[in-house]
Amino acid sequence: MRARGWWSWLARAGVGLGALLAAGTAQAQEARPWLDPTLPTPRRVDLALGQMTLDEKIAMVHGNFGSILKKTRPDDKRIGAGHVPGVPRLGIPDLYESDASLGVANGGTMRPGDVATALPSSLATAATFDPDIAYEGGAMIGAEARAKGFNVLLAGGANLTRDPWNGRNFEYLGEDPWLTGVMAGAAIRGVQDNGIISTLKHVALNAQESGRYVLDARIDQAALRESDLLAFQVAMERGRPDSVMCAYNKVNGDWSCENDWLLNQVLKRDWGFPGWVMSDWGGVHSTVKAALAGLDQESGQELDREVYFGDPLRAAVDQGAVPAARLDDMVRRILGRLFDRGLVDRPAPDMPQAIDYAAHGLVARRAAEAGAVLLRNEGDLLPLSTALKRVVVIGGHADIGVLSGGGSSQVQAVSGTPLRLPIPNGPANLGFIKITYHGSSPLAALKARLPGAEVTYLDGSDPARAAAAARGADAVLVFAEQWRTEAIDLETLALPDGQDALIAAVAAANPRTAVVLETGGAVLMPWLGKVGAVLEAWYPGDQGGEAIARVLFGEVDAGGRLPLTFPAAEAQAPRPRIPGLENVKAAAAAQASKPRTPGATTVDITGGVQAFDVAYVEGADVGYRWYARTAREPLFPFGYGLSYSRFRHGGFAAQGGAAPSVRFTVTNTGSRPGVDVPQVYALVPAADGKPVRRLVAFKRLELAPGHSATVTLPIDPRLIARFDADGAVWKVTAGLVPLVLASHATADGPTARLSLPALSLKP
Ligand code: BGC
Repeated sequence: MRARGWWSWLARAGVGLGALLAAGTAQAQEARPWLDPTLPTPRRVDLALGQMTLDEKIAMVHGNFGSILKKTRPDDKRIGAGHVPGVPRLGIPDLYESDASLGVANGGTMRPGDVATALPSSLATAATFDPDIAYEGGAMIGAEARAKGFNVLLAGGANLTRDPWNGRNFEYLGEDPWLTGVMAGAAIRGVQDNGIISTLKHVALNAQESGRYVLDARIDQAALRESDLLAFQVAMERGRPDSVMCAYNKVNGDWSCENDWLLNQVLKRDWGFPGWVMSDWGGVHSTVKAALAGLDQESGQELDREVYFGDPLRAAVDQGAVPAARLDDMVRRILGRLFDRGLVDRPAPDMPQAIDYAAHGLVARRAAEAGAVLLRNEGDLLPLSTALKRVVVIGGHADIGVLSGGGSSQVQAVSGTPLRLPIPNGPANLGFIKITYHGSSPLAALKARLPGAEVTYLDGSDPARAAAAARGADAVLVFAEQWRTEAIDLETLALPDGQDALIAAVAAANPRTAVVLETGGAVLMPWLGKVGAVLEAWYPGDQGGEAIARVLFGEVDAGGRLPLTFPAAEAQAPRPRIPGLENVKAAAAAQASKPRTPGATTVDITGGVQAFDVAYVEGADVGYRWYARTAREPLFPFGYGLSYSRFRHGGFAAQGGAAPSVRFTVTNTGSRPGVDVPQVYALVPAADGKPVRRLVAFKRLELAPGHSATVTLPIDPRLIARFDADGAVWKVTAGLVPLVLASHATADGPTARLSLPALSLKP
């Protein structure tokens, strides 16, 4: 009664709810001035920090698994990879962290029943060579994360593909620093434009999964600056991530998360990174050393051997081993980003909001179809005609869905999860990782386009039966799969489970066989010359079946290009096999024979693997540069991919000086609309003095038949420079740099010369 009286009085007096709230906010701001969004961020940070107790500061710099909420706040459903409590009395929000390489992850189904839109693997996005597509994907993930109440996304994976067997290659953007940096930067910007935070990860050299918790990555500093660090640097400049995740492994003798050179000198000093460095989950090894080396926050502390940034950090600050000012610096870095990104002023909602999954599905589909790479197309087997009468579809569970990659990036897709299989002979501690299929069936999408045809599906388990069914068909589509996951590398690049024999048998029975690959990276193709077509569809995501069908039928061009080299044999890689694999196997065998200690509370994520070094002998010459330097001919080079149309490149000219650029014209000379990805390579001396190509510019262009486009692209001089580690500068020697405009890393094309002055550029 009384309340109603109040409201009606206020209404009569013309005071609306908005005004009331504003008055409340104004009052709060008066009492808590750091909540005033009109104040500059450094001032807000000073004001808030000045109010914080030592306990509150310590609480902000160490996080738990998100699952801790089940105990501490059972009604809070924002369970993701991590949680860091905020300071409610000061209006500082909790950090709700979710993995998000390919969508809002739900690995191990930590939020039962919760789905999210699954992008195709990052390699597919990289294969689009289109930063706008990367941006859209990031923006989509960010929107879903925000609607689910997450405000920090563990996204922005930008490790270079140094070895073709890395289990996590599908989560990264390939082997080239420029392509990776540009695409990662765009994706991060997309996430953060939702007013939430993204990481850039894993700094640095987490280039293999075997022994990732114990290995020491050895590399020349200048070479690292010109490769993996350059990718991170470009991503940082373009994406401005608020946080950086340091890696598990050591780099040149020091753990990444307590590596003064990496964190303090490169990241914070040279690159001026204003945000905070969070550890990877289980990546911390010390308190004082890590704090002084630049680590700002311990994440998922349950996975560390002990809690390093809780009580031990408080003690270290009390004793002066870590200056109080350094703890303040950690907190400042976090608070500054929260204020700047809007996490305080426009917090993510407490309760889940509606998500437009139909629109987001189209974002995923667009990335999948734009990133599909046509590797072979003999006799114009593709695109398929809708007039075909008999089509045979074989293998890859194409009847139910498409494969996805495993590990912390795992999304439970909106299109459903028709199949989840345990890892065959998988380690017990990885039981939460499952071979997971998204529910977008290629078979259904193909059938929908062939209403008048007889379309048969065989699971491919019997090659002889499959070959018999294939005989005489108008077209045969074999879906072949290679599953990859975080935590485990591939011991072979050959397709598993007899799929090579299956493809060979089917192709022998019918040359009109197209192979659709669902792989997380490079794969060997002993049957290549026998099949009519090969389409690399990667892990194509939530709408993968539909995307594959659209490309196969030419509703869109096959516009993807390889973001990494496909070797002709494993022995072509810089290391002939996975370093440390024997250590991993020995530890697994020892674990298997050891009885589990009941009630053991400490986790040893290393699994008892003995430490080892990995020598990155290729230095900065990652991927195609290594193949060029060592004159190895791969199966398919970086940048390779066919279109359903044809293109001509001309008018290639280079503009030199301190801000160089190139200009060229592309013409679609075919009869269909198509996608071309012209690539400009510079010839720069490698470590041994011999010139090797480096990608310095690229552009994805969609052109109607007969149409031309003239583009001008800037060239970042650092792509041509050598890093001088002693002087800590990028150095360009004055002279003429040969350039080639090509359709892939080993193709010929028009040439030009770029005249550059001597340049010294800041690190
Ligand atoms: C992975 C990170 C991930 C983290 C949290 C780690 O094992 O390396 O990429 O963000 O777990 O799930």
